[in-house]
Amino acid sequence: MAEGVRPEKCVVAVDGPSGSGKSTVSRRLAAAVDGVYLDTGAMYRAVTWAVLQAGADLADPDSIAKIALETELSIGTDPAAPHFAANGINVDAPIRGAEVTAAVSAVAAVPSVRKHLVALQQAIIVGHPRIVVEGRDIASVVAPDADLKIYLTASSAARAQRRSAENASDVAATEADLTRRDTLDSSRAADPLRQATDAVEVDTTGMGIDEVVAYVLRLLNSKVSS
Ligand code: DC
Repeated sequence: MAEGVRPEKCVVAVDGPSGSGKSTVSRRLAAAVDGVYLDTGAMYRAVTWAVLQAGADLADPDSIAKIALETELSIGTDPAAPHFAANGINVDAPIRGAEVTAAVSAVAAVPSVRKHLVALQQAIIVGHPRIVVEGRDIASVVAPDADLKIYLTASSAARAQRRSAENASDVAATEADLTRRDTLDSSRAADPLRQATDAVEVDTTGMGIDEVVAYVLRLLNSKVSS
């Protein structure tokens, strides 16, 4: 399948740790199959933004869950411009900020928050014939029947280099923060980050983005007919 060729239907799951290239690869893949893109991490981030706005205690799962259920999310799925709003306010910038990034793992660990967001994610997937979904639990929980499951990895040094180039942060501090979040995301009880047994691992350390996208499109071509 060359870039720009579209299968009739496909669900692609892209999981992996922070900074492995999931967003860039997923958006490129979605555009290549003329499909939509779902950033589930942005959903957890938007709920976290609402939790922080409400001044809720991050150690209190019940109040976090209550806010998650009350927050009205607008979830953009255009791979060229996936805008997010919470309670009618555009949150594209604040959900990428340090405050939300520091708090999101705590919010994402609350089981009823996950249950609520997974249901929203599944409803969006059903509504689109071609969709690329990125997150941590997509292959295992959200879309276990996905046509293609990719587990993107890269060395923690490479992931930190990429992140700090994106947001001009210190490489060592970024690596420490990525490691902290990966530990929290992989060790939580509810739907931890884990490679699904039927996912294809793609280690992007030392690979360029074009190379990764072309490789994944070849894998997709071998799974679905166009
Ligand atoms: O991919 P990201 O960094 O934007 O994700 C933000 C946080 O949300 C991250 O700490 C892991 C969590 N997350 C999750 O638990 N499940 C998902 N499907 C997506 C993200």
